[in-house]
Amino acid sequence: MERMAPTVDRGRCNDCGRCVPVCPAGVLRMTPEGLRTVSAGCLACGHCVAVCPREALAIPGLDFAREFETVPMNPRWVPHGKTDPDTVLALMASRRSCRNFLDRPVSGAVIRDLIRAATLAPSGTNSQGWTFTVLPDRAAVLAFGQRCLAFFERLVRLSDQVWIREGLRLLGRPELADFHRDYAATVREGIDRFRRQGEDLLFWGAPAAIAIGSLPGATTPREDALLAAQNLLLAAHAVGLGTCLIGFAVEALRHDRSLVRALGCRDGERIHAVIAVGWPGPAERYRRFPGRFRPPIRTRRARDVTAS
Ligand SMILES: Cc1cc2nc3c(=O)[nH]c(=O)nc-3n(C[C@H](O)[C@H](O)[C@H](O)COP(=O)(O)O)c2cc1C
Repeated sequence: MERMAPTVDRGRCNDCGRCVPVCPAGVLRMTPEGLRTVSAGCLACGHCVAVCPREALAIPGLDFAREFETVPMNPRWVPHGKTDPDTVLALMASRRSCRNFLDRPVSGAVIRDLIRAATLAPSGTNSQGWTFTVLPDRAAVLAFGQRCLAFFERLVRLSDQVWIREGLRLLGRPELADFHRDYAATVREGIDRFRRQGEDLLFWGAPAAIAIGSLPGATTPREDALLAAQNLLLAAHAVGLGTCLIGFAVEALRHDRSLVRALGCRDGERIHAVIAVGWPGPAERYRRFPGRFRPPIRTRRARDVTAS
């Protein structure tokens, strides 16, 4: 992405300096002559633009005003502590992986809004090096799902060969043996049920899917894609859509480049998340938050850190 330094409208800027401490790259400086920019290192994060009370700063190419197509959004800033935590936490707690979708299409405008929400996520050095590939209807999801299933059929057959999986393990490549132990039976059953009854245990009958990938050169590609994915899941829940991350599809894409090409990805592009999207069916009516296990949390004081 072509990046440019912020431009300062000298007629508007009153050299208040508020933009200086929020610039992560030290691109803006107060000098005896007033505010000055040096272009090197600008991340195009837009903090300077967002903090300026006089709209004196701009970053060419940054899409500030674009609104959502299907839902209202006031592009104001919500100050720290000035939102309703109950709503935010309830949204996070209420999102569930959806495995029962209605046979009802999701419009392109809704999908574009979900992607827009996804791109509100942070990204390493603000690289925004993510890509979104949309499977817009059931036929596309099914076609891609069938190619994933064909991959897993080959994998199951391969992992059934004791000498191959054990040979690989002896060579320090235990992945095939691990797959055989942990997943082969479930995958075989899934393939069987799809072939015999047309049951879709991969995409759960979803009428659309979105793959989130990264362009070559992104600083933290996987993290960026997964953070964008979480935004998308929450936004989807808020607008009434169900979602499910499909790790099996990501795994297939990781091992079979022809699947990556089937998604139209360019050389060096990688897919980190595949998300089934659709309107939730009547089975998806939950009554309460199911809870989570307590995670290990440790606190390390300065003396602990320095002593070890
Ligand atoms: C990286 C990742 C991959 C996942 N892959 C699948 C998948 O292939 N199929 C599926 O049905 N669910 C998948 N899930 C959904 C999890 O099973 C689900 O998040 C978990 O059971 C907790 O349920 P919840 O999402 O409703 O809170 C995946 C979740 C994550 C985070």
